[in-house]
Amino acid sequence: MPMKIIATIAEMQKASADERALGKRIALVPTMGYLHDGHVSLIKKAKDHADIVIASIFVNPTQFGPNEDFERYPRDFTRDHSLLEGAGCDYIFYPGIKEMYAGANRTEIKIDYLTRNFEGTLRPGHFNGVALVVSKLFNATLPHLAIFGQKDYQQTLVIKQMVRDLNFGIELIISATYREADGLAMSSRNVYLSPSERLKANIIFNALEKAKKAILSGERQRKIINATMHSVLRSVPEIRIDYASSALADSLDEPDIFLAGDELVLLLAVYLGRTRLIDNTLVRAPLSSASAEDKFVEEYI
Ligand code: PAF
Repeated sequence: MPMKIIATIAEMQKASADERALGKRIALVPTMGYLHDGHVSLIKKAKDHADIVIASIFVNPTQFGPNEDFERYPRDFTRDHSLLEGAGCDYIFYPGIKEMYAGANRTEIKIDYLTRNFEGTLRPGHFNGVALVVSKLFNATLPHLAIFGQKDYQQTLVIKQMVRDLNFGIELIISATYREADGLAMSSRNVYLSPSERLKANIIFNALEKAKKAILSGERQRKIINATMHSVLRSVPEIRIDYASSALADSLDEPDIFLAGDELVLLLAVYLGRTRLIDNTLVRAPLSSASAEDKFVEEYI
């Protein structure tokens, strides 16, 4: 069927309910538009897991702080439309701000604990805005599953928690970050980078990779892991670090020393010139050094 564009919640709910009545499994890929190959890969993944794919395009004002880039966030619906059509998307849900935030808007969704550090402290209110809009998008599109990119790692934890706590009954798929050839994570905001900044932006990926290597070679002290990322990033003077940190992947706890076998996430947010970029990677602290210690203890006690 030709791709349909729907701008109202009522029409979207009806279209989804009709698809559900036909026994179709629906996947939602929520986006803020200005799509890139990473988004296209999410649509393709959605098609592998569902009969009907809905992409939402909505630059959500409630997740931007007063001094952030809501006004200048890049927008190009014509280009997004042709990318989504090419990827085999079935519906674009493309509501305006009045449609999404009609009414008194007295409801807030606040997810505790997982928002106590990193983006949660640096962007106050950001995750409340994300949680609110994602739940509104879920209620408008009635999906069986939704796909989010791992690039916004803390966001994925927040949404997983919300889906569990509020019993949305929606399956979540978190898709690996899509990268440019030099390792830079794809992001709609990469368009803000000047050509010379773009050439230096792969330092972010290099910092993550260097810290990951250190962990795989047995480093488990959080301060040293973080310092490894900081020292790589500092080699580019135009970089200003918001944070470059390691934490337990499921809770974002930050112990002084990680344990063998822990799954860690390395997360960072930096400004390159005026552009704020985030990235992350997952890595499991190897068991080998601990097993060697345990073996030593077993043999010599
Ligand atoms: O990750 C994003 O693009 C946004 O935070 C989302 C999930 C579409 C909500 O506005």
